[in-house]
Amino acid sequence: MFGSVHGVASPAGLLHILAGFLPLISAAAVPHVPPPAAPRCRYLPGDALWPSAAEWQALNRSVGGRLIAGQPLAQVCYGSNRDKAACERLRSQWTQQQTYFPDPVNVMSPYFLNNSCTPFAKDEAIFESAAACKMGNAPVYAINVSSVADVQAGFRFARDKNVRLVVKNTGHDYLGRSNGQGSLSLWTHNLKNITFLNYSSKQYTGPAVKLGAGVQAFEIYAAAAARGLRFVGGFCPTVGVAGGFVGGGGHGLMMGAYGLASDNTLEFEVVTPRGEYLVATPTQNADLFWALNGGGAGTYAVVISQTTRLYADGPVAGAFIAINNTNTINNITTTGKKADAFWQAVTKWQGHLSAFDAVPGLTTEWSLTSTSLQILVTLLDGTAAQVDSLLTPFLGTLRDLGLPFANTTSFVPNFYTHFSTYVPGGLPYGDHPTNDLVGGRLIPRKVAARSAAALTAAYRTITSQASTAAWAVNGIAGNVSGARLARGVRGTPAPTAVHPAWRDALYFVNMDVYWDPAKPIAELRALERQMVANQDLLRGLTPGSGGYMNEGAFDTAHWRDEYYGPNYERLLAVKRKHDPDFALYGLASVGSDYWVPQADGRLCRASS
Ligand SMILES: Cc1cc2nc3c(=O)[nH]c(=O)nc-3n(C[C@H](O)[C@H](O)[C@H](O)COP(=O)(O)OP(=O)(O)OC[C@H]3O[C@@H](n4cnc5c(N)ncnc54)[C@H](O)[C@@H]3O)c2cc1C
Ligand SMILES: *[C@@H]1O[C@H](CO)[C@@H](O)[C@H](O)[C@H]1NC(C)=O
Ligand SMILES: *[C@@H]1O[C@H](CO)[C@@H](O)[C@H](O)[C@H]1NC(C)=O
Ligand SMILES: *[C@@H]1O[C@H](CO)[C@@H](O)[C@H](O)[C@H]1NC(C)=O
Ligand SMILES: *[C@@H]1O[C@H](CO)[C@@H](O)[C@H](O)[C@H]1NC(C)=O
Ligand SMILES: *[C@@H]1O[C@H](CO)[C@@H](O)[C@H](O)[C@H]1NC(C)=O
Ligand SMILES: *[C@@H]1O[C@H](CO)[C@@H](O)[C@H](O)[C@H]1NC(C)=O
Ligand SMILES: *[C@@H]1O[C@H](CO)[C@@H](O)[C@H](O)[C@H]1NC(C)=O
Ligand SMILES: *[C@@H]1O[C@H](CO)[C@@H](O)[C@H](O)[C@H]1NC(C)=O
Ligand SMILES: *[C@@H]1O[C@H](CO)[C@@H](O)[C@H](O)[C@H]1NC(C)=O
Repeated sequence: MFGSVHGVASPAGLLHILAGFLPLISAAAVPHVPPPAAPRCRYLPGDALWPSAAEWQALNRSVGGRLIAGQPLAQVCYGSNRDKAACERLRSQWTQQQTYFPDPVNVMSPYFLNNSCTPFAKDEAIFESAAACKMGNAPVYAINVSSVADVQAGFRFARDKNVRLVVKNTGHDYLGRSNGQGSLSLWTHNLKNITFLNYSSKQYTGPAVKLGAGVQAFEIYAAAAARGLRFVGGFCPTVGVAGGFVGGGGHGLMMGAYGLASDNTLEFEVVTPRGEYLVATPTQNADLFWALNGGGAGTYAVVISQTTRLYADGPVAGAFIAINNTNTINNITTTGKKADAFWQAVTKWQGHLSAFDAVPGLTTEWSLTSTSLQILVTLLDGTAAQVDSLLTPFLGTLRDLGLPFANTTSFVPNFYTHFSTYVPGGLPYGDHPTNDLVGGRLIPRKVAARSAAALTAAYRTITSQASTAAWAVNGIAGNVSGARLARGVRGTPAPTAVHPAWRDALYFVNMDVYWDPAKPIAELRALERQMVANQDLLRGLTPGSGGYMNEGAFDTAHWRDEYYGPNYERLLAVKRKHDPDFALYGLASVGSDYWVPQADGRLCRASS
């Protein structure tokens, strides 16, 4: 399904590797007998060899009673005992992030929820049948992880019983990497420890924080601010920090000052699929550190904690510009003078971004639809006067084009106040709905300088697409080149496996489209096909660049090149070293072509 298979281990090799599974770190580790041969496919519930209830209870005892049976959220809507009020409540909360992130098995992505158990059934009669609510991709069980030993027990059980394994933190993942049919989930959401420390190593001396793998951005932003420190996180407050975010690179409002989140990592504390408990740093288990730090989450090991740099807080200047053409630009999806003026402004904006690229501490996030362009400017340790003077040329351009706009400037004493001023929906959770699909591309400086008008034409095509849903194109612009990191990252920037195209990018662009979850799933699938085509359109304009796996299409044929580029083979070597049986699987993840999902959702090893 996703192209050729890279380096599949021979069955004999697998046996050898299984025999080498490492014991638990506890002294009481029991010697372990591997199964006679690795079956070709993972078992699913109903299979003769699916673990018995007694075996699951044995696992439950080994994790101190922390095993949870997975349930689709909308189960309350189905069967003879259905709870109509609870179902009604669930419908009203269906696209809110807080419906999903505290849940052990349910994820946000509508594509991977797959309407298997929908609260929006077409008619009431469907709700009467309990069987109409299917597990779909929801894990059958989850371990509520509280320790290294819980993760080790999960890896051992999954291996011994040939059960698919997934890792879930918040369930934000757009690639469907945090759920899976017939799986056991390692649910890391409750690893909430936050420990501030003064760190000292050859690479870095200064303030740092050790974060349990379940800590979310809104939690650490607040805790860091209370100590007068800045934490390099993302724009979405509920995304987990040490899971998919840093594992993919992590962009946010501070990237023009301190680089990507992964540029700031100091250590990971992990459990590998072989059962090893390891600390990975740039000098200790360095290959693993590098891979975990931008080479894709849920692939090499399970993170227990992450330690990362902090920066001294200080004033933040900001601005918000809104060009709303609803009233002033007639039918911009057709050709017309005003419509063209709006798109000319989009082209000019890319030129202004090139000038902003030289300004340390400056990051912009902007959102473009067929009827509006909204821009948020963040200037760390800057003044309102500086922001105003930076924006004056662009606002002049808008006036020259005859485009009305609204602009505000802000100046606040710390990052947290800036963040809470601008995050849509406000803190703690924001209000980004969950019912979207994404795709994206890194736009190189050279292409933006040479072909801004062609890029604008592509954005115009994408946002004007005839569709039942509205398309947006969102830009995140901050200089993360080596020269900027050398200036902005305190100490030596961390080795990271992010696609090197980040360093040459003027901005990252993601495309976002919303689907009405009460509509048939066929419509969602059509939107995803359109998304892949749009990602291809942007790839055609930016040869040699890359994408960002955390905000990219999961089913592009080009995933290796787009998300890993020249790092792929080295990442695969790390994968084979630490996860020789490919226990961890995720779409568009390194080594994922070792497995082939079948029509019924079962994972089978690719035949070589
Ligand atoms: C509304 C929204 C806004 C976003 N905003 C931003 C943004 O501003 N900047 C940005 O860079 N990205 C952003 N993203 C993308 C985000 O970084 C990814 O969705 C990311 O995968 C989320 O990680 P998570 O751990 O919270 O989610 P999950 O879905 O729980 O996990 C994501 C991946 O990480 C793995 N994983 C989770 N925990 C662990 C662990 N302890 N050990 C090993 N693997 C683990 C999972 O197996 C899965 O592969 C946004 C996403 C959404 C939905
Ligand atoms: C695991 O054990 C605990 C405590 O004994 C129990 O409450 C829980 O229901 C069990 N989990 C499953 C899936 O049976
Ligand atoms: C969604 O469910 C259908 C069966 O109803 C299945 O064929 C399809 O593969 C599933 N898709 C995903 C992404 O799980
Ligand atoms: C998971 O464990 C935490 C403690 O680590 C506990 O507070 C929480 O209630 C548990 N969640 C579930 C759903 O069992
Ligand atoms: C979390 O912190 C507490 C108290 O410092 C400690 O006892 C516990 O081991 C930590 N848990 C993890 C998973 O690091
Ligand atoms: C780090 O060191 C500084 C300066 O000595 C001190 O003020 C601060 O409390 C220390 N922080 C922690 C978390 O130990
Ligand atoms: C644009 O203006 C219209 C009318 O004033 C308003 O309803 C709409 O919300 C605005 N849109 C944006 C994106 O600001
Ligand atoms: C756009 O065009 C349609 C149909 O031609 C017309 O009804 C509508 O009023 C136009 N909108 C604006 C804002 O001019
Ligand atoms: C809008 O921008 C101009 C030029 O940069 C600036 O002088 C002015 O103060 C801004 N308006 C507001 C309300 O901040
Ligand atoms: C990025 O920032 C650095 C440091 O501020 C600067 O030297 C460089 O010119 C900027 N642009 C590029 C393309 O690196």
